[in-house]
Amino acid sequence: MTISQMNSFPPAWLWLVDEAIPKWVKKSYSPKESWKDKPFTLDDAKFFFKGVEELSELFTDERPKGMPQYFLHPRYRSGYLLYFLPLQAAKFLTLFQMHSKAIESALQFARQEGVLRIADLGAGPGTASLSLLLVLLNQKLAAGEELPPVELHWFDTNLSVMKDGQFLVEELANSFPKLRGKVQLFLNELPWWKAPSKLPKSLALTVMGHILNESTAPQGEVDGFWEEIVLRSKGGGLLLVEPASRRPSQVLSSLRDEFLASGLIENTPARIWGPCLHSGACPMAEGRDWCHFSVPVQIPGKWFRGFSEGLGSERQWLKYSYLWLASEGFQAPVVASHLRRVISDALGRGPRPEVLICEPEAAGRWNVPTYGPAERATVKRGDVISVRPSSPERPVRESRGPLKSREKPKGFKVSEKRSRPKNSR
Ligand SMILES: C[S@@+](CC[C@H](N)C(=O)[O-])C[C@H]1O[C@@H](n2cnc3c(N)ncnc32)[C@H](O)[C@@H]1O
Repeated sequence: MTISQMNSFPPAWLWLVDEAIPKWVKKSYSPKESWKDKPFTLDDAKFFFKGVEELSELFTDERPKGMPQYFLHPRYRSGYLLYFLPLQAAKFLTLFQMHSKAIESALQFARQEGVLRIADLGAGPGTASLSLLLVLLNQKLAAGEELPPVELHWFDTNLSVMKDGQFLVEELANSFPKLRGKVQLFLNELPWWKAPSKLPKSLALTVMGHILNESTAPQGEVDGFWEEIVLRSKGGGLLLVEPASRRPSQVLSSLRDEFLASGLIENTPARIWGPCLHSGACPMAEGRDWCHFSVPVQIPGKWFRGFSEGLGSERQWLKYSYLWLASEGFQAPVVASHLRRVISDALGRGPRPEVLICEPEAAGRWNVPTYGPAERATVKRGDVISVRPSSPERPVRESRGPLKSREKPKGFKVSEKRSRPKNSR
């Protein structure tokens, strides 16, 4: 299956982005009292577009050092709700669908525990949690079966934006019988690295979405955070999603390498839902290339489409980097040894273009087969391809420095436990 075949939107999506969000934004953020309970119109869209536009300028891929606390301003909160929430939610939905077994694991663990506990760190308006609720609404249940009760534990330094999200969660749970009376939300106005002091001991899933790129924990504070959060994230594990640009992607790669090197997670690909198929050193943790994905998409929603056209063109790609760790009790399937993840677009335009493929320590190169233009066109960044060991398509290694000589990410240190075994595929 290719990465691009996995994106579809649950039926409640349009309800969320075209009804619930605009209704809340108009009610809470209209400058005139008399407008607040009227339907959201094109004039409202024009009014709120200013916030979308300015926020989009602030959200350059690489966040500036000392990122301002943009959610202090109502104009940016409303802009985020109308445009960035659907955009980021589409990324979470893509990942939840691509790794549906991780979601099944979260649900299985929740059934054992009697409750689906989700931690959402740097939650903002609860984008990841709302996406997950949309996925739960879509779950097929056997006759007489119900969803388990859901506990959402949100952490963010901005309470106002979490309250926006609280309204949306309550509206969603009240509007769809499958979730009615089932969702409990806990808001914690705290930085993400303080979460373990407030979180329950075991979680069915932890998500950190678009947060490491704009906040660095003080070294003293972060000590122990990763250890605590990885150990508590049972069921579906720990999902980290960041923008597709180099620095945040390489932070994820370096974290992954540190978790493995320190023994915080065992050295097996079964502890990683994705994107990695092996547990050797990440070949993209430093240098000019980095691990990121682009998924073609058409995000449904008339207001979203209008805003994205206002920003220049209709949005046709979802771009992100991610790391999804599996928990000890619910491991990811280990793929056959001849399979590799494609981690670049086609390099060059010749008759047999090469792509980079993910190999421990150093990226390999793979010549796309020459069967025909259709086959060539279908090999894309993110796909999993077969590279038979005896075939002439065998990847050629690019050399790269050993893991220990690489720069370590700042602020994400986990304690050393045991050295890493050599055999990691
Ligand atoms: C880009 S938004 C992402 C929100 C949400 N996770 C999403 O994916 O849409 C980043 C969020 O991180 C929050 N934030 C910034 N620094 C933080 C910190 N040190 N601890 C917790 N949250 C923080 C901001 O208030 C904001 O809500």
